[in-house]
Amino acid sequence: MPANIINGAKVAHKVLEDISQRVKKRLEIGARIPGLAIVLVGSDSASKIYVSKKREVCKKVGFLIYLYELPESTTQIQLLKLISRLNYDQNIDGILVQLPLPETINIGVIVEHISPLKDVDGFHSYNLGRLCNRTPTMLRPCTPRGIMTLLENYKINICRLNAVIVGASNIVGRPMSMELLLAGCTTTITHRFTQNLDQFIAQADLLVVAIGRPRFILGNWIKAGAIVIDVGINRLPSGQIVGDVEFDQAVHRAAWITPVPGGVGPMTIATLMQNTLYICEQKEMDNNFQRESI
Ligand code: GUN
Repeated sequence: MPANIINGAKVAHKVLEDISQRVKKRLEIGARIPGLAIVLVGSDSASKIYVSKKREVCKKVGFLIYLYELPESTTQIQLLKLISRLNYDQNIDGILVQLPLPETINIGVIVEHISPLKDVDGFHSYNLGRLCNRTPTMLRPCTPRGIMTLLENYKINICRLNAVIVGASNIVGRPMSMELLLAGCTTTITHRFTQNLDQFIAQADLLVVAIGRPRFILGNWIKAGAIVIDVGINRLPSGQIVGDVEFDQAVHRAAWITPVPGGVGPMTIATLMQNTLYICEQKEMDNNFQRESI
């Protein structure tokens, strides 16, 4: 029997509907509308597509969007100055600097300069550290958090499973391992230096793949009955969008599988919106508390 399809587009739609309703209510009572600043440096074509998608969804849920498109020649100092301004801007709840950045700019320095309270990506060492030490803040990296939301929505219990992650990036693989540990999985991260990858994958009850290589994971490597989460979004020369997993074969071995497109991608953006709204609502609660305490 083919696997059950985990429909990320459908779950994301539900999440975004809820956010839209909450924004509408805020408008009705005259509350401030959430604002997201997106900073895009250079002209990486994939980044441009991701940013335009984020912008589109922001508009759909009624957020204010502040888009900064900076040239490739932007210096680290110029970017730091912009972030300082955004950190202090009361209308801006979340700050997202689209990665990767030009090689002349140190990503770590930039990420650390974003206020941890406006860190919609959850990449700042404060928010990441809190996730690592089992006291997570509400600002958690969007793709791993989106995957957890997907699993929760389908009521897939992952406690005690052997989870294998393929790809050890800061954006997906590493924070994913922390989410899965928190959820009670026995978690292994594999990466470009891992030998006999297929043997790790054969042991995976839950497989998360985020490597950006089209159909790299062969269907016949997958354990029968596994849950397969494919984070990859790759465009073939034909124009077709495919994941990192050989879907047509994997679908006959897995019990659950995410499609590409329409799986993890929409959940990443929906989680970004959740994080932005959370910051806005939290700020207001803090302000009200201060007002009442005076
Ligand atoms: N580049 C690819 N994915 C992401 C993401 O989730 N956040 C940011 N800031 N950049 C990215």
